[in-house]
Amino acid sequence: MKKVLPSLLAAASFSLFAAPAEQALPAPARTGGMPLQQALNVRKTVRSYKADALNPQQIGDLLWSANGVNRGNGKRTAPSAVNRQEVKLYYLTAQGAFFYDPQDHQAVKISDEDLRKWAGVFDAPLYVVLSADLKKAASHHYAVMDTGYVSQNIYLHCASAGLGTCAIGSFGRIKGSQKGKLLHDKLKMPETEEILLTHSVGIPAEE
Ligand SMILES: Cc1cc2nc3c(=O)[nH]c(=O)nc-3n(C[C@H](O)[C@H](O)[C@H](O)COP(=O)(O)O)c2cc1C
Repeated sequence: MKKVLPSLLAAASFSLFAAPAEQALPAPARTGGMPLQQALNVRKTVRSYKADALNPQQIGDLLWSANGVNRGNGKRTAPSAVNRQEVKLYYLTAQGAFFYDPQDHQAVKISDEDLRKWAGVFDAPLYVVLSADLKKAASHHYAVMDTGYVSQNIYLHCASAGLGTCAIGSFGRIKGSQKGKLLHDKLKMPETEEILLTHSVGIPAEE
């Protein structure tokens, strides 16, 4: 008992002080931003970013715009074939890797590791990983299309919010990435989930 007690106390104090895996994101801005025609007019791919980290409001607004819940019936800012809602979002920063839970608009920490270098070759403060739950998807073909809508939401949100982004289909070609398997495994995805695209995001560097 003498030996067991200290380790029990240590475990209890760890669980009292360990950061919870779920972190609420600030409520998303559902109004404002740039008029749509203006956002379309300035939408473009940006591959160079300032080092500044994005704040939680910027991250929450980006994820909500990409594929958040925008109605009481649980449907999303992006459409999905047969309403399967199979596209899942993760984001990667210097602080670790997080899953975006759209129903509760919260981040769930998956890893303390900085995984950005496996998502793209650009020096960006944030990467978004777009995957599809193929068990939910109406088909692989539709999963790919549904991912495209989320990607365009990211592009338009970034245009409106003064952020820069690049869709990256070549993430699987990063040296050592094992064709994306390494990122897939580090994000603890099941075999039935597939990463289809990543996006680098940050404040555009001066041109
Ligand atoms: C599905 C998809 C995959 C892409 N993959 C890459 C990529 O791997 N690397 C890259 O630098 N740009 C990538 N891009 C960005 C395109 O190169 C870019 O959209 C195109 O050059 C047109 O430029 P714009 O977006 O500024 O109009 C991708 C874009 C899309 C839509």
